Amino acid sequence: MSDLVTLRLDADAPGVARAAEILAEGGLVAFPTETVYGLGADAANDRAVARIYEAKGRPSFNPLIVHLSDIEAVQRLVVWSEPAERVAQAFWPGPLTMVLPLREDARVSRLVTAGLDTLAVRLPANPTARALLNAFDGPVAAPSANPSGRISPTRAAHVLEGLDGKIEAVLDGGRCGVGLESTILGLTGKPTILRPGRVTSEDLGRVLGRPVLERKDRDKISAPGQLASHYAPRARVRLNAAEWREGEARLGFGDEPCDLNLSRSGDLVEAAANLFEYLHRLDASNAEVIAVAPIPHVGLGVAINDRLSRAAAPRETP
Ligand code: TXA
Ligand code: MG
Repeated sequence: MSDLVTLRLDADAPGVARAAEILAEGGLVAFPTETVYGLGADAANDRAVARIYEAKGRPSFNPLIVHLSDIEAVQRLVVWSEPAERVAQAFWPGPLTMVLPLREDARVSRLVTAGLDTLAVRLPANPTARALLNAFDGPVAAPSANPSGRISPTRAAHVLEGLDGKIEAVLDGGRCGVGLESTILGLTGKPTILRPGRVTSEDLGRVLGRPVLERKDRDKISAPGQLASHYAPRARVRLNAAEWREGEARLGFGDEPCDLNLSRSGDLVEAAANLFEYLHRLDASNAEVIAVAPIPHVGLGVAINDRLSRAAAPRETP
């Protein structure tokens, strides 16, 4: 992946059109939003989304924010509600993300939600972001366009410092105005700020007509990284299965007989792309145990193993 030549595209009509084409082909394009540069991929394309994690070198699968061009497109992905409508009218387009229940018929990769049944959605205001989303005409998954653990980029040059040679293109729309990631508002239960940002809890409380909680108030989520909300299969998960046992649902890797194979050719990007979808499918088979073949602990394998070890961890009783 290191022999890619990253294109630097101007934020004019031809540049935006090329960027949209690259997204449609499953490529990665960094683009400006009013908060920070995002690393975009077609949110419906499992493999493209898997490459986001690979390019960022993320050691785990955090759920990603999906960027859209209009509210109708948002409503095709999430269950809309009166509070969501109020917040959208007041703050969209703008530096605010809402977490809402995922619609069952939503066409987004399970890797975007990291298997959760909620989805983070945002309508950015930056004109280049809007032009790209209009031209691509579909949901774009985008975390901040920095390698994992580094600071978020607010210029195209920052993106290239971290990701040159790892992504197809960066759309250079100049400097991001806000420079701080969007406020994330959870609306699946009591309105809760999951990440503070430019839009404050006071702003949101005024629009919603009720106080908005900050995540630190919610005693249930004590550790950062929102482990508690991550998808865990109903079945028990047995890792590093060197051999298969009677009655288990078998999740394979590499050339071996099994029920579902993450990647027959041993490709970690393909394995990441299939991971959540296959865990769901095997869980739906009602097996008591899902046995998983060993996954090499290199590159994207680290994130895959992180997710698998969480899926296999003993459950907290609620
Ligand atoms: O300003 C921003 O929001 C930028 C630009 C590019 O839009 N994006 C950004 O993405 O900051 P990222 O991936 O760096 O941060 C996304 C945050 C993560 O902390 C993730 O856990 C949270 O959003 N998140 C995403 N989906 C979620 C969900 N369904 N439930 C709870 N948290 C979610
Ligand atoms: Mg980030």
